[in-house]
Amino acid sequence: MIQIQKLAIEGGTPVRDKMLPFGAPWFDEAEYAEVLDTLKSGWISTGPKTKQFEKEFAEYVGARYAVALNSCTAGLHLSLVVLGIGPGDEVIVPSLTFGATANVVEHVGARPVLVDIDPVMLTIDPVCVERAITRCTKAIIPVHYAGMPSDLDALHELAQRYNLTMIEDAAHAIGAKYQGRTVGSISPLTNFSFYANKNLSTAEGGMVTTDDAELEERLRVYHLHGLSRDAWKRYHTKAFSPSEVVLPGFKYNMTDLQASLGIHQLRKQERFIARREEIASLYDEAFRNMDGLVWTPPRPHDVGSYGEPMNRHVLHLYPILIDTTRLTVDRNQVISALLAENIGASMHFTPLHMMPYYRNKYGYKPDDFPNARWVGTSEISLPVQPQMSDEDAEDVVRAMRKVLEAYSR
Ligand SMILES: Cc1ncc(COP(=O)(O)O)c(C=O)c1O
Repeated sequence: MIQIQKLAIEGGTPVRDKMLPFGAPWFDEAEYAEVLDTLKSGWISTGPKTKQFEKEFAEYVGARYAVALNSCTAGLHLSLVVLGIGPGDEVIVPSLTFGATANVVEHVGARPVLVDIDPVMLTIDPVCVERAITRCTKAIIPVHYAGMPSDLDALHELAQRYNLTMIEDAAHAIGAKYQGRTVGSISPLTNFSFYANKNLSTAEGGMVTTDDAELEERLRVYHLHGLSRDAWKRYHTKAFSPSEVVLPGFKYNMTDLQASLGIHQLRKQERFIARREEIASLYDEAFRNMDGLVWTPPRPHDVGSYGEPMNRHVLHLYPILIDTTRLTVDRNQVISALLAENIGASMHFTPLHMMPYYRNKYGYKPDDFPNARWVGTSEISLPVQPQMSDEDAEDVVRAMRKVLEAYSR
């Protein structure tokens, strides 16, 4: 007879005394010293550190250009703007994503056309994409959900056949690899997020990468008021000449304070990813035969001829899917019980076709995209940040087992 422990949410003892946070950033002396240096330098907004971060970031992902921004949302918006996408146009977006991916399409007056995801990878399903293409379609925005690259070959093939542009939403996917290439070097425009809980954090921030010199030029002008030159260039030339507004741009620039964090976070990425992989392996093993779990992240292990990863999931999230038909409670109650056990669990995402704005505006029904709906109602994201110890990860497994046993039918 299994002895079921009393859940903390019902007055029992939690599996750990202190909360294990979800997605906490990890800074050390390197970031502290760089931020202090920037503060003392007298130049705190966009300047030399932002330039350095852009240069190192472009090198890391293998792109010719990187433009640092104040968010990934800004990058997605600018990507549409520089491509001239607007009223009357359609952009295909997976329903399983954060609001920003589709909101930016609304911002430019175009229509976001939502589609379903693949039920194994949880990324946009190219078959659904093809079905959604019309004469108005201008671009596809695949989302590398949790850090797993989308099926880019299939999507690029569609983009070529139907004359569409690919704008990657790589908010979760810094360092991810697809067929031996690093995300950021594959599509015309790729956008990364450096929000507080991302694999690389600058508190708020983003980067857009491209190999196209013309797109880069347009991104630079649009990201700072439409000015012909940024402030660093205006104040650091021998012959002063005022800059001019050449188009109505936005205020999307990154500051040197943020770049000070980014430079060092970037240099640590490979180490961070390796530790995420260790924690994920511990989870994979523990969850393999756990009752009530029906999906854990597929983790590609194929390597190239020099032993380098060909496809790499960078595990921004470690999502699991639970079988709610075998439980007495719903997914949100499972998360509440995990939080009471002091495990910082979360969920990603409520699909956009079930969100009030998109549901009401376009008349979507929950079953329009059954795979996205399934993830939206059964997914739990577990902590997987690199500063976690093995004991922290074991606490997560113990809490998961305790909660699923207590709520099993
Ligand atoms: C898939 C996805 N796209 C875009 C964003 C927006 O990123 P940011 O907060 O940097 O604008 C997020 C943020 O979490 C995200 O998860």
